[in-house]
Amino acid sequence: MARDFLGLGDAGGDMVAAMINDAIDRKAARKGWPKGRPDADAPLAGHVLAMIFEKNSTRTRVSFDMAMRQLGGSALIMEAGSTQIGRGETIADTARVLSRMVDAIMIRTDDHAKIEELAHYADVPVINGLTDLSHPCQIVADLLTIVEHGASLPGLQMAWLGDGNNVANSLIEAAGLMKFTIRIGGPAGYEPDEAFVARARAAGGEVILTSDAEEAVAGAQVVVTDTWVSMGQAGGEKHIAAMQPYQVNAALMAKAAPGAKFLHCLPAHRGEEVTNEVIDGPNSVVWDEAENRIHAQKSVLLWALGKL
Ligand code: CP
Ligand code: NVA
Repeated sequence: MARDFLGLGDAGGDMVAAMINDAIDRKAARKGWPKGRPDADAPLAGHVLAMIFEKNSTRTRVSFDMAMRQLGGSALIMEAGSTQIGRGETIADTARVLSRMVDAIMIRTDDHAKIEELAHYADVPVINGLTDLSHPCQIVADLLTIVEHGASLPGLQMAWLGDGNNVANSLIEAAGLMKFTIRIGGPAGYEPDEAFVARARAAGGEVILTSDAEEAVAGAQVVVTDTWVSMGQAGGEKHIAAMQPYQVNAALMAKAAPGAKFLHCLPAHRGEEVTNEVIDGPNSVVWDEAENRIHAQKSVLLWALGKL
């Protein structure tokens, strides 16, 4: 069964919850093992994932590769620029060819329309490893991290600071599916995607947009930020200046709920969107969050291949 994972909504709230539970179980079952040893049931033995990268990556690349190894399968990397995609072979033809050669495709690209086209022409599951619009695999890892640290998702109070980017859009989607509140604090002109906001609200999530950073974090159990300038985005001094009031520093964290956790998908730009004292502080869970990319993606892969 081929299931595409272009956004969290492709799986739905119940399945995202099931993914988190499965990730918790698999993570516990292999505690202390060498990282490349397959899980006891090796559910994806013999399966191969092709990973297409049109943008840089450290975590997504390594965690998908390790996820496939731990599930008993393997992964191969295609840097788009060194493939025929880089010389103009169409997405559709690439999808048709890869569907004959591998069992699933992960792609990191810019325009979200490209992944939709790939999914349309591929017969195997296509997984979103980040587009300019969304980053759903990151958010499965984030939700897993939040649950692991003792919070429950329905009714959770989350704050997002800074740019309304791809990660923010997927967190907003999660707020709708898992029924939590997300307050987005950012400058005018850098709001998240309107359609994501509308869908999340219609699904029962509470999405509050504000330009007041303190209002965004007030009472938040989880505070999240990301780079002020995403890959491929035009930055510039004006952009950076507009983001300054949304820096996550100790003073801002002090306005959140006591013991509020700090998340960041990484890579971080220390001294810009977050200070060292916050990212290296006792309430930062960013290293768990990074590790959890492996555990979360195992669930996504199992779901996409009809095994969850
Ligand atoms: N968080 C994340 O997706 O990291 P990479 O860009 O290193 O893959
Ligand atoms: N918003 C960032 C996320 C990187 C993982 C970007 O798109 O560059």
